[in-house]
Amino acid sequence: MSNKKKDKIQSAYKDSIGIYDDVLTQGNIFSRMYIRFFWSGTDDSRIASEILSYIPDDYEVRLLDVPVGTAVFTEQKWKKLSKAQITCLDYSEDMLDKAKKRLSGCDNISFVQGDVGRLPFDDGSFDIVMSMNGFHAFPDKKSAFRETWRVLKKGGQFIACFYIRGKSKRTDWLVSRILSKKGWFTPPFPTEEQLLKILNRLYSDVECQIDGSMVYFRCVK
Ligand SMILES: C[S@@+](CC[C@H](N)C(=O)[O-])C[C@H]1O[C@@H](n2cnc3c(N)ncnc32)[C@H](O)[C@@H]1O
Repeated sequence: MSNKKKDKIQSAYKDSIGIYDDVLTQGNIFSRMYIRFFWSGTDDSRIASEILSYIPDDYEVRLLDVPVGTAVFTEQKWKKLSKAQITCLDYSEDMLDKAKKRLSGCDNISFVQGDVGRLPFDDGSFDIVMSMNGFHAFPDKKSAFRETWRVLKKGGQFIACFYIRGKSKRTDWLVSRILSKKGWFTPPFPTEEQLLKILNRLYSDVECQIDGSMVYFRCVK
């Protein structure tokens, strides 16, 4: 990742740290209006709980959460997974600090500041790789797909959700004209068809759902 892109992402998420959780969880009237108008009312909390339900609470797994962000959606679930070894990685120190505070006191959870495009883990280190709302922010998606695949063990599950292009003109406009300019999103964004091609090349048992301009899925390495 170039230094310019790194700085843009770091400062975008630093600037949004005070409003991030409220916007994503529709915590006030403005964020509800924003989601209804620009995202066809797609509820990120619902998608989050859907994909978290793929993971049983008593699972003894090694799990990578990349990017953890502020852990706004994962806090409750990660606290329940007391038998799992959870690694939370994010590029932004500010987001990671908030996640650390939320999940403090959980000895089975560790935090790493890093780049998804160069994960500091051995091949096959994890049973599950979870990527919630990450791929639309990652600047080098090819490396992100390669690295998340590499660190997953054979038979392990890749679970993710993110924005895809081509489902709503209004959302595509917002993403390209505003969110990408600010640094919260980074192009290029795949269409559903392009994504399925990537997933089917790397994984088997691909189960994919679309909600507005968001895709969520699970698949097996
Ligand atoms: C929209 S947030 C999603 C966070 C969280 N998973 C959620 O659903 O709330 C995107 C996150 O991706 C992180 N990010 C962007 N580029 C990254 C990279 N190259 N490696 C790791 N994390 C990155 C940002 O710092 C930010 O915290």
